[in-house]
Amino acid sequence: MTDKGNVLITGTPGTGKTSLASILAEQTGYSHIEIGRFVKDHNLHDGWDADLECYILNEDKVCDFLEERMSKGGNIVDHHGCDFFPERWFDHVVVLQTENGILYNRLEQRGYKGRKLQENIECEIMHVIVEEARESYKEEILKVLKSDTVEDQDANVDVVLSLLGSSKAGNVNRSSPEKRQRF
Ligand SMILES: Nc1ncnc2c1ncn2[C@@H]1O[C@H](COP(=O)(O)OP(=O)(O)OP(=O)(O)O)[C@@H](O)[C@H]1O
Ligand SMILES: [Mg+2]
Repeated sequence: MTDKGNVLITGTPGTGKTSLASILAEQTGYSHIEIGRFVKDHNLHDGWDADLECYILNEDKVCDFLEERMSKGGNIVDHHGCDFFPERWFDHVVVLQTENGILYNRLEQRGYKGRKLQENIECEIMHVIVEEARESYKEEILKVLKSDTVEDQDANVDVVLSLLGSSKAGNVNRSSPEKRQRF
């Protein structure tokens, strides 16, 4: 491991992981690893789930594929689950949460409907990902952050930047806040 650590951003689909991770990657120079995209691009799956309309992620393939990269540090990993990654990979784990009505609208706008929409909303209502994160990582590296509004997102950027600034990660470039993504 170098002096740069790794950050995991997790949460129910639609809570804003990819948006937050992209801003952070741009501001820090860390690599953004969007697991869903990696799974597709590098064939780290066991086929397509037609019901849920997503690839069936192969956890072993994902972990093997990322091991070397993660051991070097400097990564921001973005995924809607968190229990299958090696605990040692992460110095900070962020769970995003969004109010149910806001999340419903976001997912609906994205074209989610039926079982897929329902299951994701239930996941958020039941705090599934927060519980998963609490069971998988130490409380002291875990932050649960609200992601309802653009203001929340700005605040969350600052939280993670300060975590990185005060950890062994260091070298955070805070010079371009004007480049932050707006909605
Ligand atoms: N804090 C926020 N306030 C308002 N809108 C947001 C916020 N975060 C994300 N959004 C918007 O919500 C939508 C979903 O965001 P995003 O794609 O980042 O979510 P995600 O958690 O990565 O979802 P998935 O798990 O499906 O990849 C996007 O249209 C994004 O612009
Ligand atoms: Mg995403």
